[in-house]
Amino acid sequence: MLLITPPGVYRAQADTEMLIGALDDEPLAPGAAVLDVGTGSGAVAVAAGRRGARVTAVDVSWSALGAALLNGALHGRRIRPRHGDLLSAVRGRRFDVVAANPPYVPCPGDSAPRGAARAWDAGRDGRLLLDRICAQAPAALKPGGVLLLVHSDLCGVDTTCELLRAGGLRTEIVARARQPYGPVMSSRARWFEREGLARPGQCSEELVVIRGARE
Ligand SMILES: C[S@@+](CC[C@H](N)C(=O)[O-])C[C@H]1O[C@@H](n2cnc3c(N)ncnc32)[C@H](O)[C@@H]1O
Repeated sequence: MLLITPPGVYRAQADTEMLIGALDDEPLAPGAAVLDVGTGSGAVAVAAGRRGARVTAVDVSWSALGAALLNGALHGRRIRPRHGDLLSAVRGRRFDVVAANPPYVPCPGDSAPRGAARAWDAGRDGRLLLDRICAQAPAALKPGGVLLLVHSDLCGVDTTCELLRAGGLRTEIVARARQPYGPVMSSRARWFEREGLARPGQCSEELVVIRGARE
């Protein structure tokens, strides 16, 4: 898919593609309400729009929202942008599908991520945003609605599933793919080992798409 990605906006990658693949496997009625949390370039939002969904895209970055709007227009799809923090930006609304590829890379230091790193850094265990999405998503789903969430196995797939189940969702892993560390992960490989997040010598991660369904 042709996408314009301005500097500072997350360029669609393997995790993006896996999330789109999982979305493609979901039946979507025409006009289904889809939320793309942390839309970045809008790749997932555009993919949903191309299937006839009514798409809302949230991001904390104005540049990302601009890119998502632009890419929507490029593909003849209207994307409804919302600036704000995760699902708080659409408080009180419910969706048929909530898709999220949030920041999940564990990072040293306790200060809030800044600049481009805000698209991937997510605290010492990588769960700064994941835990909040797990807490917020169940209430944002219509009955029968589905959450699709992609992240690395370095930041606790079991934890995500347990939190979603505690929120009343039925969980399953719908996609897995092992891939070599990219530049950011490689630069932190030894730190991951010291933190007990990775095995000694580990140089790859497994990306996982978790599906949480509301009964
Ligand atoms: C890993 S990128 C994913 C971008 C896109 N969805 C994709 O799959 O290519 C994560 C996105 O989440 C956004 N983000 C980070 N913190 C956020 C927050 N608290 N609320 C909303 N969006 C946030 C970032 O700006 C970034 O665009």
